[in-house]
Amino acid sequence: MIRDATEQDLPAIRDIYNDAVLNTTAIWNEQLVDLGNRQAWLSARQDQGYPILVATENEQVIGYASFGDWRAFEGYRYSVEHSVYVRNDQRGKGLGPLLMQALIERARTCGKHVMVAAIESGNLASIRLHERLGFVTTGQMPQVGIKFGRWLDLTFMQLTLNPGAQPPKE
Ligand SMILES: CC(C)(COP(=O)(O)OP(=O)(O)OC[C@H]1O[C@@H](n2cnc3c(N)ncnc32)[C@H](O)[C@@H]1OP(=O)(O)O)[C@@H](O)C(=O)NCCC(=O)NCCS
Repeated sequence: MIRDATEQDLPAIRDIYNDAVLNTTAIWNEQLVDLGNRQAWLSARQDQGYPILVATENEQVIGYASFGDWRAFEGYRYSVEHSVYVRNDQRGKGLGPLLMQALIERARTCGKHVMVAAIESGNLASIRLHERLGFVTTGQMPQVGIKFGRWLDLTFMQLTLNPGAQPPKE
C-alpha cells in the first residue's frame, strides 16, 4: 500500500534514512538524524505542498519517496529532485518502482515539468530503476563527492513530465 506519510511513520523513516547513511553511498551524508530532524522535514514538505509517500506492509513503513525543489532559485520552480528509499530487507521486490510511479503522478498533479535524480554512478539498481521509468541520463560529474574514503561520481537523470508543453502563462 502506498499513502501519504504521517507523524507516526517518522521513526521508521528515520531508521531507513540512517541505515542508508551508515551503509550506502545513496546519500552523501555521514551524520545520523533524529526524530526532530525528520519532523522538521515533514513539516517543510507539507508547507510546500510536496508529498512524502510511504509504502507499508501490515502498517509498517518499508519504503518512502519524496521530492523537493531542485534548486532554491525562482527559475527552477517547475523542477524537483526526488529521493526513494526501500528498507534493506525489502529491496528487489518492486517497491521502488511502485513508489516512483506514485511520486511521478504526484509531481504531475503539482504541475511540475521535470524530475531530477542525482544518483551515485555505481548505484546500478537505482540507475536501472530510473531508466525503466523513462528517465534519461543528462549529466555525469566525476569525483564530486567523497564517502567511505573514496571519491564518488554523480549521475544526473531526468524525466520530462509533460513533453512538449509550453511554459505556463503566469
Ligand atoms: C534503489 C532502490 C530504491 C530500488 O528499489 P527496489 O524496490 O529494490 O527496486 P527493484 O525491486 O526494482 O529492484 C532493483 C534492482 O535490485 C535488485 N535486487 C534484488 N534483490 C536485491 C536486494 N536484496 N538488495 C538490493 N537489490 C536487489 C533487483 O533484482 C533489481 O535489479 P535489476 O535492476 O537488475 O532488475 C532500493 O534498492 C534502495 O532503496 N536502495 C538504497 C537507497 C537508494 O539507493 N536509493 C536511491 C538513491 S538515488
